[in-house]
Formats: sequence, C-alpha cells, structure tokens
Amino acid sequence: MAQEYKLKGVTSLDLKPGDKQEVEIEGIEGAKVLLLNAGACFNGKTGDVEDAPALDALPVFKAVERDGAVYITGDEASIKSGHRRPSKFKCKATGGDKIVVVGGGSGSLGTVEGLRENGYKGPITVITNEGYLPIDRPKLSKALMTDLQKLQWRDEEFFKTGDVEFVQDEVTGVNFGSKTVATKAGGKFAYTKLVLATGGTPRVLPLQGFKVLGNIFTLRNVGDAKKINEAIGEKGKKIVIIGSSFIGMELAVATSNGNDVTVVGMEKVPLERILGEKVGGAIQKLVESKGVKFYMSAGVEKAEPSTSNPSTVGSVHLKDGTKLDADLVILGVGVVPATEYLKDNSVVELQQDGSLKVDEYFSVVGLKDVYAIGDIASFPYHGPAGDGKYVRIEHWNVAQKAGRIVAGHITNPARADIQSQVFAPIFWSALGAQMRYAGNTQANGYDDVVVQGSFDEGKWVAYYTKGETVVAMASMGKDPAMAQFAQLLPLGKLPSKTELQNGLDILIETDCLRLASSGMPPVIYIAFCVVWRFTQLTVIGLLTVIVYRIGFHPLRRVPGPKLAAISNIWQAKYVRDGKVRQLVRDVHEKYGPVVRVGPDEVWVSSPEGFKAIYGASNGFEKSDFYIATALNRPEGIDWHLNLHWPDTLDLLSEFDTKRYRLQRRLIGPVYASSNVKKFEPAVEEVLERAIAELKKLEREGSELDLKEWMHILAVECLGAAVLSWSPNYIQQRSDGGTSGQSYLGWKRKSVFGLFPLITKISFWSKGISRWWANAWGVTFTTPKGFKPFFTPVYQKSSKRVTAALALAQKRADQQQKQPQKPSKKAPKSKPAEKKDLLEDLIQLHLARPDEFTETYLRRLAVTNFGAGHETLCSTLTAAIAMIASHEHVQRHVADEAWLSRSHRGTKETTATAPYAYTQAAIKEAQRLWPVIGMVLPRRVPYSHTINIGGYDIPGGTTVGCAPLVLHLDEGVFGPQADTYEPGRWLPSTSPAHRPATPDEQEEQIRRLREMERCNLIWGGGGRTCPGRFLAEMIIRKVVTALVGEFEVAITSGLPIDAANEERMSCYFMAMMSGVKVRFRSRRDKGLTDLGAEEEEAEEGRAVSGKTR
Ligand SMILES: Cc1cc2nc3c(=O)[nH]c(=O)nc-3n(C[C@H](O)[C@H](O)[C@H](O)COP(=O)(O)OP(=O)(O)OC[C@H]3O[C@@H](n4cnc5c(N)ncnc54)[C@H](O)[C@@H]3O)c2cc1C
Ligand code: HEM
Repeated sequence: MAQEYKLKGVTSLDLKPGDKQEVEIEGIEGAKVLLLNAGACFNGKTGDVEDAPALDALPVFKAVERDGAVYITGDEASIKSGHRRPSKFKCKATGGDKIVVVGGGSGSLGTVEGLRENGYKGPITVITNEGYLPIDRPKLSKALMTDLQKLQWRDEEFFKTGDVEFVQDEVTGVNFGSKTVATKAGGKFAYTKLVLATGGTPRVLPLQGFKVLGNIFTLRNVGDAKKINEAIGEKGKKIVIIGSSFIGMELAVATSNGNDVTVVGMEKVPLERILGEKVGGAIQKLVESKGVKFYMSAGVEKAEPSTSNPSTVGSVHLKDGTKLDADLVILGVGVVPATEYLKDNSVVELQQDGSLKVDEYFSVVGLKDVYAIGDIASFPYHGPAGDGKYVRIEHWNVAQKAGRIVAGHITNPARADIQSQVFAPIFWSALGAQMRYAGNTQANGYDDVVVQGSFDEGKWVAYYTKGETVVAMASMGKDPAMAQFAQLLPLGKLPSKTELQNGLDILIETDCLRLASSGMPPVIYIAFCVVWRFTQLTVIGLLTVIVYRIGFHPLRRVPGPKLAAISNIWQAKYVRDGKVRQLVRDVHEKYGPVVRVGPDEVWVSSPEGFKAIYGASNGFEKSDFYIATALNRPEGIDWHLNLHWPDTLDLLSEFDTKRYRLQRRLIGPVYASSNVKKFEPAVEEVLERAIAELKKLEREGSELDLKEWMHILAVECLGAAVLSWSPNYIQQRSDGGTSGQSYLGWKRKSVFGLFPLITKISFWSKGISRWWANAWGVTFTTPKGFKPFFTPVYQKSSKRVTAALALAQKRADQQQKQPQKPSKKAPKSKPAEKKDLLEDLIQLHLARPDEFTETYLRRLAVTNFGAGHETLCSTLTAAIAMIASHEHVQRHVADEAWLSRSHRGTKETTATAPYAYTQAAIKEAQRLWPVIGMVLPRRVPYSHTINIGGYDIPGGTTVGCAPLVLHLDEGVFGPQADTYEPGRWLPSTSPAHRPATPDEQEEQIRRLREMERCNLIWGGGGRTCPGRFLAEMIIRKVVTALVGEFEVAITSGLPIDAANEERMSCYFMAMMSGVKVRFRSRRDKGLTDLGAEEEEAEEGRAVSGKTR
C-alpha cells in the first residue's frame, strides 16, 4: 500500500538541473531514494533508462514539500528495491519484420530492450551459445562471480513478457542473400534484420606449453570463471597472470587474497598503452599493496608442466630466464572479435582484426539489413579527436549503446541522426579502488597527460590530450568528475588542455554543462558559458586580491578591520550612512593611532603623523579621492589611468602642483585679510536686515532651525561680499532647501571618492555613474520648483564679467583710435564700479589676462559660493550652537560684541575691536566641529616609504588625519580636549593669579603656536583654504552681531548625545544639524552686570578678564 514517508534531513526540493542527492527514508530501514533533477542515463520525470550503462529504470515517487520537510508517497517494497524493470518492455509480438540477434551479451541486451522500448512489435529471436541469459560480464573478473542468479541481468520471465525468444545454440554461418542464419544444431533462422553481437574470443599464447597444458585459463564467461575458481580451490596457490591490461589486473586483485599472485606484462608499467606510464605506475603501486608481484617489460617464453602433474602447468619461463612457479596461469592478453562463423563468408569482408566495419548506425558496410555491434564492430568514432576514424572499443556501455542505436535505427530510421549522436565510451575497473575511464584514444592516440589530484591519496583525475584536445580521462576517487566528463564529451564542451593545466576543475563547470544538457538554445548557452567563465575568473581574481591584501600587502601589519583591508566598501558603508564622525572616532579608539581603513589607506591620529603628512615641504599631494569633487570632465586619460585635467582653476581638485601654486599666488592678494576688510560694510548691511527679520520672528515666537538660518546668512553674506547681490533668503526666511540639496551632493561625492576607478569611468559613462550611485543609494533628485542659488550667481557674475570685459575692450579700442600722449605719470587705474570681490577679480584679470585668464575669473566667481556656502554654514552653526549652549561663553562673546560695536549696531566702532575671546570661541567650535568629517586624504609620494607610529607606509598609500580625532589630542590641545573651552586658545595667567613669568609666557606661546599649527580647521600643509580671511571676517561679524543682539537659547538638539549624533548625517563635509534655537533680544544689560555674572561663572580660569 502506498503511503507517505518523510525523507531524512531534506528540507526542500530545490535541486538544480542535473543535481542528484541520495537520502534516507524515515520508517524504512536501509532504504534510500535518489532525488534527481534530470540526469545522464535516466529520464528525470519517468525514471526510464535513457542511456547505457544503466539497464533498470528507476522507480519514481511523488514528492511534496511541506512544513520545511520533504515527503514521498510509495509502497515500501518498491522504495526498498531501488530499481524497476523498464515499463515499456512488455509486448505480444505480432507478425511483420523478424529480427534475429546473434549473441547473448551486452550488445544483444541493449538491442532487445531498445527495440521493445522504442515500440518495435515484431518477433525477436536471440541466438546465443553462452548457455544462459545475458550476464553482467564485467563482474566476472572483479570477483570471479559464478552465481547466475546474481550475474544474469534478466530472468526468463522478463524476456517472456517482452516476447523475446532465446535460442541456446551456436551460429555457424549466415546467408546474407537468403537472409537466414544457420546454427550448429542445424537450425535455420530467417531474418528481416540481423544484429550480430557475438563479442570477443580471448586470445591464447601461441607459445610452447600454453596450448596443451591444463590449468591455463582465459576468462570470458561463467564457465571460465568456474574453472579458475576450481583451480584455485582452497587458495594458497601460485597464480601467474600473463597480461597487465584490465582483465589481468582485475584478476590479480580478485585473486590476491590468500594466493601468491604474479603479473607478467610486456609494458613498462601495467595499463601503459591505455593510461600512460604515470597513471599505470600509480596503479601498479596500488595493486602491489595487495601483495601482487610484477614482472614488467617482460617477454614470456614458454610454459612448463608441473612435476607433480605433467598435464598441468608448473611454471612460466620468461625470456630473461626467470622461472615463475605456477599452480595456475590466467591469460589476459586480449580478445579477438568472435566472427569465426563469417570467416569463409564471401559476401562479407572482415577487417584485419576480424571485426566488421560499420557506419554511424552500426549497419555493416556493404550489407543490407545487417548490423554489427559491440566487441566485433569497427565504427567511425566521432568523439574528441576521433575524426571519424574506425575504432573497436571493448566496453560494456559501448556495446549496449550501439544496441540501442541499432534499435533506434530499425524502429525509426528517420530519427537516426539523433541516435547516431556522439556518445561517451565509458569503462570501469576494480583495481584495489574503483577506476573510471571515459573517452577513447584509439583513433589518434594521445600525446600528453594532465593529472589533477594525488595518487597517494587515491583521488586523481588524468586527462589524456592530443594537442589542446582532451580525448579521454581516467579517474579514481573522483566519480563526480568522471560523470561530468561523460556528460560534457558528447556536447563537445570539454575544457582544453591549457585550461586543465591551469587548474580548471571540471566540476566547477557543472552549471554550465547542465544547462547545456537541458536543451538550451546554443546562443543562450554560449552567453551563459561566457558569463560563467567570466564569473569564475572574477571570483578567482577577487580571491587572489583578498588573499594578497590581507596576507601579503605591505600594509598587512597595520592594525585595522580585516574587511577594510579587503575593500573600500567597508568604509563606504559608513560614509553612505553619514556615520563618519562615529567612524573616525571608533577606529582610532579600537585600533590605535595608526589604522588601516582601506586596502591602500591609513588614518593617523597623532600630531607626528599630522606633521609627516601635512608638512608643507613633504610633497604629499592630494589623493585620488578628490577626483570625485572635480568640477570638470578630464580632457583625457593615459595608460597609467592618470587623468588629464583642463586648466580652469578648480582649486579643490587641482592635481597639477605647478598650476595650483600659480593660481594661489595670483588670487592671494584678493583674499588677503587686508583686502577682504573692505567687504565688511556689505556684510554689516546683510546682518542689519537679518537682525530686523529675526526680531520679527522673535515677536512671532518662532523656533528656528539653526542650520538653515546659518545657511541663509552664509549665502547672503557671500552674495553681498562677492557679488553685491542678495538671494532674498532673509526676506523669505528660508534657504529654499539649498543646503539640504547640496549636502546630498556631498553624500554622493564622499562615496564616489572612495572608488576612484569607478569615478574615473563615470566621467565617460553616465550609465556606470548612475548604476554605481543607485547601487550605493546616493542618487538624489532635485525637487520640483527647486531654485538653486548657483543659477543667479552664475548668471549675475557672468553678466558682470562679460560687461566688464566688453567695457575694457571698448576703452582699449578707443585708446587705439585716439592715442593719448604718453604721460610720464603712471596711468591711474579706473576706480572700481563696485566694492565687491568680483570686481577685484575682474581687475585682476584685466591686469594679468594671460595668467589669471577669463576662464579662471568666471570659475572663481562661482567658487566663492561653491566652496564657501556650506563651510560657512557648518562653521556658523557650530559656533552659535556651542556659544549658546555655554552660558558663560555666550556672555563673554556678547560682552565683546558690546565693546566692539556702536550701540546695538552691526558696525564696529574701532578698527582694533577686541574680539579675542569671540575668536577663541569660534575656533574652539571649529576644533570640535570641523567642516571636514572624514580625513583630508593625501598620497605618500611614490618614491617614499614613510614610517608613522612604527609602521612602514609605502609610496602611493592614501594617508590622512581626521580633524575630529586629531583635534582631541590632549598633548596639543590640553586637558579635557573633548570639552568646549574657548580659553584654551588664549594666553592664561598662572594659577596664582599673578602675571606669568617669562618662562610661563614662553611656554604659553609655544603651546598656542602648536595648537594653531597642529589642526586642520582650514586644511593642511600646502593645501589650505584660500577663503580663510573672507570666511573669518564673515563668521566673526555674524557671531558678534547675533550674540551681541540676541540671547540665543537652544531649544532642542543639544547637547549632542549618541542619539542626536545618530540622527545627524556627516560626510566628507560635516554639519551639525537638528539644533533648534530661539533668538531673544537682549535686554539693556550693561557690561558691568555681565562682568559680575561672568566672574561667578568662571571657575578658576581667568580668561575673559584678561582679554577684555
Ligand atoms: C572478464 C571481463 C571483464 C570485463 N570488464 C569490463 C568492465 O569492467 N567494463 C567494461 O566496460 N567492459 C568490461 N568488459 C568488456 C565487456 O564485457 C565487453 O566489451 C562487452 O561485453 C561486449 O559486449 P558484446 O555484446 O559485444 O559481447 P559479449 O558481451 O561478449 O556477448 C557476446 C555473446 O555472443 C555469444 N556468441 C559468440 N559467438 C557466438 C556464436 N557464434 N553463436 C551464438 N552466440 C555467440 C557469446 O556467448 C556471448 O553471449 C569485460 C569483459 C570481460 C570478458
Ligand atoms: C568657515 C568657512 C570655511 C572653512 C572652515 C573652510 C575650510 C576649508 C578646508 C578645511 C579646506 C581644505 C579642504 C581639503 O583639503 O580637502 C578648504 C579648502 C578650500 N576652501 Fe575653504 N573654508 C571655508 C570657507 C571658504 C570660502 C568662503 C571660500 C571662498 C573662496 C573657500 C575656498 C576654498 C577653496 C577654493 C579650497 C580648496 C583649496 C585647495 O584644495 O587647496 N573656503 N577650505
């Protein structure tokens, strides 16, 4: 009764095409089922045999997946049996064609079963002289088995069900004219189609003694095996086996237990002709380990009778004089085709070796309706390097496969092309371990052997090659490889010799093969194989890179996360998530002052490291990270993948040091502290408007987003100072989302910067750029109606430049028309139309047009905004937030604001207004909230190796300090460096409140110098911020105006605890966000009050008193 059984340890039926899995069954002891998704020999759905050497079909059970387990339904008996007779064999023969098969071996069996399975309904007669039904012949030499019950493939009953007649007789002749077969017993069998499958007759040695003496055996059938067994009897015999090919070797192994076995062979090593010297030698060793002795490269001279019984053999004599005592001798010296009965037939021509020449369908050449298969057939071989040459292959599966091809040709000659497809000759042998062999070398031989695996471990595969073509393979302990080979061979998809020499594992091709064998269209198959091969190479490449980067890279000893050593992906994930502040702190905390954070990147947190990297004369250029910040597309790329950039004054991403130096020299005077002073009134005017608006907001009781308001002021101040223009943000009380939008730009740039190669490719392929951005989730879109301030900045500056240049041209033209008399006085330069920075830049261009080109001019006009708006916003936000959240600091700053301004105005009263404390408060905020969240990456010159913290860092490595970590160094910035304490930037008095001694003063100066020098607030080394003085002026003015006018109260977002920081995304550009404030107008508090309160607030550190 069929019932449901659970499969042990199987959770799903998810098998790939071609996969097989043997599993046990719960509730049926010892039973196993094979889960398979199609296969070589069986139909995956019906379990029917599709190809030799399988004979029995597989029983098939319905399988279902349920609750994480797999169940099959079937009855216990069929589950246990594990195989099933072919279902289509049953037949009641009707009239019509009569097929006669001569021989009762493998080929015969394949023909008979193939005929019935292919639907042939006519009579079939098998004439065999073997005396029993077809047996599993290979078992004879493996175990000298003689039990017919075990050897016979099918019983009588089976053949009866298929109405196949078996005649035990010997065929003595064939009349191809009258289409009849004659037998020894006088029978005459008419045929319509004749299949000759008479196999081989073992050779005997035509040497003295061998034909006459007893106890000299060959092995072909059960009778032979019985005789050998009888001769061995109770064991302890001296057995000489002549012939070191498969049968001889198998018999040596089969008889070695308890007997004294010697193998005599002509070759250097056994099986040399087929397997080669190396493999043959390994097999000899294996067989020797069973106690078998070998006499190789030996010639046999004669057999001598035994002294005790002269009718039987007593010894074998070799040509070199060796005498081998023998109780019995077994000859394994090959077979000749069993075609004696055709020898004198005038119609058929036998080949020199006695075989019959057949075509691709095993139809005998020159005869009609006659087929020859198995050991007697020489057929055109179309396997690898076969070239259709005629071969005679003595394999069980070849005979049987040929029988099936014949059956196919008889039943459906139209489909014969399908039947004649190339098939893989397969052979197996028991040589102390199971050996497999597939393919064939008879047609053209082989010229090399590629061995994979180890003979000593008994796991190897040997590939026989002719040129680049693999023609055959032998294996031990590697059955899956052999199965794979046998499947690939007919498809013509075997790997090449070079691929195998390069270590290709044939099993890695599995998926490729299986898809191919599942009938995929060739184009898709080829595409799949290409992709597959590419994937393989990629995986191998990646593994090599990983191993190198972790185990052999010069930075391997530098501590750091292992994943970071493999790829920048590790770092990029933090950057993408906006977690750079946490990242830079955490890695140094965990791994120390020198950390490897990328395959070629090292971060350093020590002041020594800072000096080594950013020392102006050390020659460390910017790393490739900055490619991602470039404003232009490169002009080209060379073979070293170096980019060539156009000369447009793209300062942040300028890689040409010479050009950069010139650019900085040219613009230096415009951005000098003395020059930017003249833009103060423009900034003051902005601040007056801002204060008025903030007061309105105060009255409305509004809580403001600090970052947005600081961005409003940053853009407004830059607009006023650079362009004499306002974006109207103050009036609109909004920056129109511009800061958020360009921050997303930084997110994208920060991730791209970590993958310079992709960034380089992105310049030329928008698709790659988009794909990479999407992959990292850094693609951003511009909201509808979004108005970037860059558009009016660009338009306005461009218009002004064009107009100014046109005017200058006009004047030059006029001068040319009416040349003025040369004056001895130097010509007076025209007074600037506007007192803004753009005007200065225009004048610079007019004065030095060849150096400070028009391109430079137009670019720098916009750069002021590009480089300034976020940096200002970030710094202003941090400064106001820090000052406002430290009451005593706020009071000091307000105090200084009062001193420095005309009453409540934004204009400063004196040119030497005292804002030392304010500046310290700003600097301290910049120290703790630097605008650069990541490191400022530089590249170690290729010619150097530097040593930082005891680690050698080779040329080409990207190195950098994270400002956030460097700025917390207590050795430089004093105790409690993680707290906000503006006083650390000011000279302090001694603890005893007495004036500092000269030594103390000197020490203070040294400390302050070190702090000023050892920070990255404005960049590092040769690449510092050119807009520093402009920015400092704006920040000081904004802070003084706001804090002087308002009491700034933080309503939320501060202090920055872990949760706040988690919400705050920081990239290469870092900004404090999420802080809400209220601006409350200051009551008329005099300085005296402030001073008194301040003193209470100051705990020990007499800072402000001295600085005011
Ligand atoms: C001991 C041994 C071990 C082997 N081991 C392996 C192995 O491990 N793997 C492998 O692939 N191959 C092996 N082979 C080879 C394989 O068995 C043969 O290649 C295969 O059996 C050939 O099939 P066949 O049908 O051509 O001939 P056979 O299987 O030999 O069948 C021939 C049949 O024809 C009959 N016959 C012959 N002459 C006449 C006649 N005149 N009238 C009527 N009947 C006749 C014979 O009695 C026999 O029944 C082995 C062979 C032997 C002998
Ligand atoms: C508070 C405001 C500012 C801060 C904190 C600041 C800070 C910095 C820093 C740290 C760098 C170095 C970046 C690096 O090496 O990766 C830099 C570079 C630069 N800054 Fe500023 N900056 C500010 C404002 C401005 C302004 C207003 C301008 C306008 C001209 C400007 C123009 C530049 C330019 C052009 C560079 C690139 C220089 C180079 O790479 O060599 N910055 N700035």
